[in-house]
Parts: sequence; C-alpha cells; structure tokens
Amino acid sequence: MRNITLGNITQAASDSFAGLPDARRRELMQQLVRHLHAFARETGLTHDEWRAAMDFLHRSGDISSETRSEFGLLSDVLGLSSLVDLLAGPPGVPHATPGSVLGPFHAVGSPWKDNPVDLTPGNPGEQVLIRGRVLGPDGQPLPTASLDFWQNAANGLYWQLDPSQPSDNLRCQLRVDADGGFAIRTIRPQPYQIPTDGPVWHDVVGPAGRTAWRPAHVHVIVSAPGFRTLVTELFDAAGPWLDRDAVFGVRGPLVLACKAVPGVDVPVMETDFVLAPAAR
Ligand code: BEZ
Ligand code: FE
Repeated sequence: MRNITLGNITQAASDSFAGLPDARRRELMQQLVRHLHAFARETGLTHDEWRAAMDFLHRSGDISSETRSEFGLLSDVLGLSSLVDLLAGPPGVPHATPGSVLGPFHAVGSPWKDNPVDLTPGNPGEQVLIRGRVLGPDGQPLPTASLDFWQNAANGLYWQLDPSQPSDNLRCQLRVDADGGFAIRTIRPQPYQIPTDGPVWHDVVGPAGRTAWRPAHVHVIVSAPGFRTLVTELFDAAGPWLDRDAVFGVRGPLVLACKAVPGVDVPVMETDFVLAPAAR
C-alpha cells in the first residue's frame, strides 16, 4: 500500500499476516495487531511512552537468563498467566480442581519418593501433613495418578535460590496408592516475594503501590493417563496476602485450613484433586 494513513494502517498491518499458513497462528497475529493498535489509539500513546515501553522490554530481556524469565513474571503480575489458566479450565467439569500458576521454580526431574513421604528431615519449621486422593470427575479414585510437588523452605526460599539447602530440597514425585491416596509430611510453606530487583518490580508493580508478596503455598502437578494434567497450588488459609497475591493465583477451593485431626500428630491440610478427562 502506497499511502498508509491513520485510517488504513491497522487493516494493512493485520492483512500483512494473511499469508500465514497456520489458521490459528494467523488469527493470533491478526488479533494481536488489532488489539495493540486499539490500545494505542484509545490511549493516544505518545512517542515518549512508546520509547519507555520499548526500553522496559529491552531491560526485561537483559535481566532474563536460563533460570530467570522477566517476561514470565510480567505475564504473572499482569494477571495474564492466571487468565490463561482460568480459560483452560475444563468446560463441563465444574467441580474439577482449578489450576493455578506454575511459577518459575518448577524443574523437571524431581526425585521419586515412596508414598507416604516425609520431606521434613533437615527442614526446621512447623510441620503439616498434606493428604487427600486423586479422583476422576465421577469421584472414582485414580490409582494410576502421580504427583509432582515442590515448595519453599522456612526461610521463604526455594532450594534453587538458596545454597544452604541441599539440591532437590522440599520437592518430590509420588505415585498415589490403590485408592488414589497420597500423604506428604512437610513443613508449613511460607509467604514469598516475587523478585524485586528487576524492571517488572521497579517499573510496573512497585509504582502501583502493590505488594511483592505471594501467600504461603505449595505447588502440585497432578497427572494420570487419560486425564488432563492439573498444574495447581494449595494455599494456607491462615497466612497473610491471600487477598493480594502479586500474581493472582488464589482460587477459593485451593485455600485449605490446617486442621487438628485425632490420631495425627501434626496439623492436616486435606484435599482431593479432581481431574477432568483429557481433551479428545
Ligand atoms: C512462585 O510461586 O514462587 C512464583 C510464582 C510467580 C512468580 C514468582 C514466584
Ligand atoms: Fe511458589
């Protein structure tokens, strides 16, 4: 097009992706252009503001590494990661356990441990038992399920960021028992701050007067053949920051009280994980 104007630039930029052979990719790119252009038009985006945004993205790239994704954090603090999780919730299985953010501290290859497992050796802190069952949508136990579990230590840090912890501390994979049951004796997780040394904190979250804190939580990935893999978190109902999670991860059914249970020497956090059938 020889004469690009305010009136035709959005169409021209969108049309420039019409040749993408993959229909989904074409839709994503064309909608991205439309929504980005609408944002600029509606806000009257200025040169200075656009330059500041480009500079922010540049600095976010600079601080990112194999072990740190500032763009992932940006997605988290904008609520985009949680929105994608919520959109992916299985339609037609309203009682399926909701998903929540994966976060940056999952690493594949966690050690397999026998179920029930005790993760407390070497970990000072208040102990809890996290237990429950993995069920299908009709309440049937799923004995082929497995769990991938990870959490932070009493000092609030995950093992990857804390040389004082042995590698693989407070994480494991488990196979459930014949009734779909699992039990993890561990320490009570601690509230944790998202990184505050990068552009996401300095330019986006901090200036808004928001908190860097995430409420105390453990992470779990629950999988079983034939069912949708569930990436989720469990939150300690007694902890602070549940109403102001920096990354919008809290879902009502994932907030668990630590209860005294007769015959168990530590407080118990109890929940079943209900999986939806795998999409066909
Ligand atoms: C976490 O769960 O540890 C986490 C999640 C998102 C951003 C930062 C940390
Ligand atoms: Fe976490």
